[in-house]
Amino acid sequence: AQLNSLARAAGLEYFGTALGEGQTGDSQYMSIASDTDEFGQLTPENGQKWDSVEPNQGQFNYDNGDIVPNVAARNGQILRCHTLTWHSQLPSWVSSRSWSREELQSVIEVHIANVVGHYKGKCYHWDVVNEAADDSGGWRSSVFYNTLGTDFLPISFNAAKAADPDAGLWYNDYNLEMRGHLIVGTTPTREQLADTLRRFTALGVDVAYTELDIRHESMPPSDQALATQGDDYANVVGSCLDVGGCVGVTVWGYTDKYSWIPGTFPGTGAALLWDENFNKKPAYTSVSSVLAAA
Ligand code: G3I
Repeated sequence: AQLNSLARAAGLEYFGTALGEGQTGDSQYMSIASDTDEFGQLTPENGQKWDSVEPNQGQFNYDNGDIVPNVAARNGQILRCHTLTWHSQLPSWVSSRSWSREELQSVIEVHIANVVGHYKGKCYHWDVVNEAADDSGGWRSSVFYNTLGTDFLPISFNAAKAADPDAGLWYNDYNLEMRGHLIVGTTPTREQLADTLRRFTALGVDVAYTELDIRHESMPPSDQALATQGDDYANVVGSCLDVGGCVGVTVWGYTDKYSWIPGTFPGTGAALLWDENFNKKPAYTSVSSVLAAA
């Protein structure tokens, strides 16, 4: 059995991956991503973001956004939809002018009503608000926070709830540690991660790892570093298995052939479970073992 089948047997709802809209022409990439024994869930990497679906005010376009939902539907995979209110990949018509509170509230509500309405009934989860915390733990400066304070969170969640009452509505962030962009050798232990997850489930909400990758800071990785990466992945996946309200794990891409990391953190990389030639790495074996042992 492979990752999703093992994850489901271990009590998780899914093991999934983000899928890049720009790579759907790569048949090897698509064939592994479409194997539901491996991946029971997909997340569109970029297509549903604000700059893609509403590049100009009131002009909605779902050509790119629909790519991954269509793949998921064809394969019978769970769809996590991503993302609505986020400071990044925001078209300049939203980010680079000043709004009154009433205007910006309406801009958010119109956006969410359209986008969530378009995908109504298809999204198992929606990442409603993304990365509202900054790296020091305060609120991130953005047009949303600077105009509306923290009111942009309930405004966004209420709009999403109204547009698709059946979708699970998620807050998505990192450094908590919930989302999971990590560095080899500095990943917390399984127990530390499980304790953090329990601080959230104690509030009555579900948790999930939504964007897991663990990058090497020294490239190319040594065999030792690849083994450590495997241990780190096992700690993260293991912590989800240890916490009742942890529903699933999504890796942010699965092959080192395609990853956002080298572009954003030059000189680092190899963060995923398959190498750039689609060979399974030691980290794949570690994840598979920790799932099988549950
Ligand atoms: O589509 C254009 C293309 O037309 C253009 O020629 C090219 C030139 O730069 O850019 C292409 O857009 C890029 C897009 O990915 C699609 O490939 C953007 O420049 C690039 O910035 C964008 O990066 C994405 C990044 O979010 C943007 O912040 C990554 O693929 C995506 O993996 C990453 O994902 C985010 C999550 O959504 C939220 N959490 C953090 C995570 C990592 O940053």
